[in-house]
Amino acid sequence: MIIAIDGPAASGKGTLARKLAEHFDLPHLDTGLSYRGVAYALLEDGAPLDDPALAKAAANAIDLVALDRDLLSAHEVGEAASKIAVMSEVRRILVEKQRAFAGNKRGAILDGRDIGTVVCPEADVKLYVTASAEARAARRFLEAGEKGSGATRAQILEDIVRRDERDTGRADSPLRPAEDAHLLDTSEMSIEQAFEAALGIIEDVSRAS
Ligand code: C5P
Repeated sequence: MIIAIDGPAASGKGTLARKLAEHFDLPHLDTGLSYRGVAYALLEDGAPLDDPALAKAAANAIDLVALDRDLLSAHEVGEAASKIAVMSEVRRILVEKQRAFAGNKRGAILDGRDIGTVVCPEADVKLYVTASAEARAARRFLEAGEKGSGATRAQILEDIVRRDERDTGRADSPLRPAEDAHLLDTSEMSIEQAFEAALGIIEDVSRAS
């Protein structure tokens, strides 16, 4: 079984993907980390974020399953990732590696922006997880407070809106729901409620097939 989960930043798709992977005992790939890994390598080298040759080399060097979530979780790395993610050369390399992961014979859960549309268009179940920009900013604000970051809620909301624009507006593989994706709006849901709702959708799809 392949489960594709897409959605904008801070929609809750990552947490949901991890919980579903645990529930179904399936390998899970957070594809945002692939783009973050490339961005991090360029930032570490002091390299520009808009040089396709350098970005391609960094993408070729990435081992998707060896990426360190803690190292790559910084806000600036996410911003930089969305800048390098507009380059088709980079996407081609990372998508190929992501498809190899999805080819695991036990199945897999992948989350990102283009899983249902580009990486795994044949996925058994596609979820598109959204939440209002305000709800997503409120979640990030809480997380940021726990980490001691000084960003205000308004700054976080501004960042989220900008990232949404970049991710939905790019020419190659923009963020959008696949035609056959099931929409899950988590604005008013707890993590547990979102998990139960996703489980319900997956069970319905499995029963129908
Ligand atoms: O999900 P996360 O915030 O870690 O992703 C960082 C950035 O990587 C996104 O804003 C997006 O631009 C890019 N990305 C992408 N395609 C994916 C996953 C992430 O373009 N499948």
